[in-house]
Amino acid sequence: MSNSLSSPTSCKSPRVTVVGAGRVGSTLAQRIAEKNIADVVLLDIVEGMPQGLALDLLEARGLELHNRQIIGTNNYADTANSAIVVITAGFPRKPGMSRDDLLQINAKIVVDAAKNAIAHSPHAIFMVVTNPLDVMTYLTWQATGLPRNLVMGMAGVLDSARFETFIALELGVLPADVNAMVLGSHGDLMVPLARYATVNGIPISELLDAATIERLVAKTRNSGAEIVELMHTGGAFFAPASATSVMVESIILNQSRFLPVAAYLQGEYGLNDVVIGVPCRLGCGGIEKILELTLNDQEKTALQTSANSVRQNIQQAQEILSATV
Ligand code: LAC
Repeated sequence: MSNSLSSPTSCKSPRVTVVGAGRVGSTLAQRIAEKNIADVVLLDIVEGMPQGLALDLLEARGLELHNRQIIGTNNYADTANSAIVVITAGFPRKPGMSRDDLLQINAKIVVDAAKNAIAHSPHAIFMVVTNPLDVMTYLTWQATGLPRNLVMGMAGVLDSARFETFIALELGVLPADVNAMVLGSHGDLMVPLARYATVNGIPISELLDAATIERLVAKTRNSGAEIVELMHTGGAFFAPASATSVMVESIILNQSRFLPVAAYLQGEYGLNDVVIGVPCRLGCGGIEKILELTLNDQEKTALQTSANSVRQNIQQAQEILSATV
């Protein structure tokens, strides 16, 4: 009789692939493993780098009290059968650049990553983090040919966390008690919904005057750029990695959280054939529902303006990609 016992498939841990082992990607790998959400495959084109980072993360397992597998690789074959593929590959902005300035340089990187990853994980859910986020998510949806509920972008969770942070700092309350939602594109035209922001259910308009709320909205819009200016090289990565891990967790653990997610719209909010941040229910089926909030005229116009700018950038990206084929 053999001593070796085989594991049933149900014992297999879900696997999340993170493409791009820069600061966002490697911190995300850390968050996913250390929050005990899934095993992680960290992939990068730079030889040795993801392998080194994976080994470093593995050596922390006993100290961080988890037993997740972490693989570093340069080969997409090692990402096979991932439940989720997160694309963080590409270049971050430099001081003075907008996220849209990255279009030219990141479009091909993201499309190549999406095509390579889906070849090995045809049933994966794709999550995009590379900027300009909404356009890169659209390109990933196109490149993979997946239904729209299986492709999404991370930005609203980050922008909302920033808004919540500034509200909490202003009021001197626990950040976790603040709930806010930022919709629209991940850029200067994002749409923070101050009307829907609360502290444990109390609308912030009861706690802050209009001028203060406007100041916090402006600070939220500019926060990514502020961090780039301060750091000189690269940009934010702790909070972006946290925000992405919350979305990954909601899908892998089927938590059904309502989160602002960059989603492909087909008529919701009166918008068509564009990716933009809207509230979604995230569970094991990916985007399981898009929630259509009642917006006032000003909010509707802001969302429309945001969508128009994404649309223009999508068109520009298509031109760049067709010129490079
Ligand atoms: C930021 C980058 C992730 O907002 O876009 O910091």
